[in-house]
Amino acid sequence: MTKRIGLLTSGGDCGGLNAVIRAVALRAAAAYRWEVFGIRNGSMGLLRQPPDAECLDPARLDVAMMRLGGTILGTTNKGDPFAFPMPDGSLRDRSQEAIDAYHALRLDALIGIGGDGSFAILRRLAQQGGLPLVGIPKTIDNDVRDTEASVGYDTAVAVATEALDRLQPTAASHDRVMVLEVMGRDAGHIAIAAGIAGGADVVLVPEIGWRLDHVVKHIAALRASGRTGALVVVAEAAGQSDESPKPVDDAPALHGMGHWLSHRLAAASGAEARATVLGHVQRGAMPTAEDRLLAAALGVRAVDLLAEGKADRMVAWWNRKVIDVPLDKVVGRSRTIDPDGTLVTTARALGICLGDKA
Ligand code: F6P
Repeated sequence: MTKRIGLLTSGGDCGGLNAVIRAVALRAAAAYRWEVFGIRNGSMGLLRQPPDAECLDPARLDVAMMRLGGTILGTTNKGDPFAFPMPDGSLRDRSQEAIDAYHALRLDALIGIGGDGSFAILRRLAQQGGLPLVGIPKTIDNDVRDTEASVGYDTAVAVATEALDRLQPTAASHDRVMVLEVMGRDAGHIAIAAGIAGGADVVLVPEIGWRLDHVVKHIAALRASGRTGALVVVAEAAGQSDESPKPVDDAPALHGMGHWLSHRLAAASGAEARATVLGHVQRGAMPTAEDRLLAAALGVRAVDLLAEGKADRMVAWWNRKVIDVPLDKVVGRSRTIDPDGTLVTTARALGICLGDKA
């Protein structure tokens, strides 16, 4: 019997989403003759009347999709169907409408491409409506539990590394401290990886308490040794130390660390400092080969899982293999940097200052 699979992207966009969409649709058609319905704008597409979804024709999923940033399905990080914001400011539970839309589309299962926040919402929907759900992890933050990599992370690290490559000549030529603020929300994965790959002198992450005076001392020692300029990477949420600002406000986008740090460093060290805030540039790039590979492997396996009758699972990447893990272990938890892990010890071994000592 031909099955109909609903597919949606949810949360922030990132490199590799279209490669996942393509892999899911190709596998479903070629191996099982199933149809895949792309739902627009995450769960928002299920709250439209009629539901906003379209059958993805595998013949039209050109190979160029692999290279395309963003998501052809659209996405959102707002509009939780369990607490949907209404024009009068109230929140309404519209979850049953989303479940009714799933049935109206005559879907047999749902594949959600998202991070832990999206999985929490989709899993709640799936449980309430008895819908088979498989999750595929994506986020530049790389903070999804039980997977070593999420789609989009490698691309973001590549962009941040390239930014450091481009900032280094200015640091050296002008003898400036160049501060690069990267995304990652509460996790410092992008910061530490790009910091090592891009040759940073200082990397500040939320997981490791740091002090401004340690950073100032480290930069002073570099300059005393004859080095001109320095590269500093700061994760957007690194402001948890007493020496750094508390979150600026409760706006959804975290911001402010890069400029704050460059001002404070300039004032404390006498060096000239400049800040670059990389922002969404990290999300929209053409995906790296690694992200395309991950997207392909996870997309194919997600379809196979449904064919095996398995649901309430997330496909994951572990030791360069695809595995699957229970979704309930993933939702509501995030994976931050291991302060004793390989990346942190490597950074220290290379003389990168993490701000906990000079
Ligand atoms: O979760 C992905 C992410 O890019 C974070 O790194 C960042 O803090 C946030 O989304 C930005 O969100 P928005 O696109 O809503 O500004």
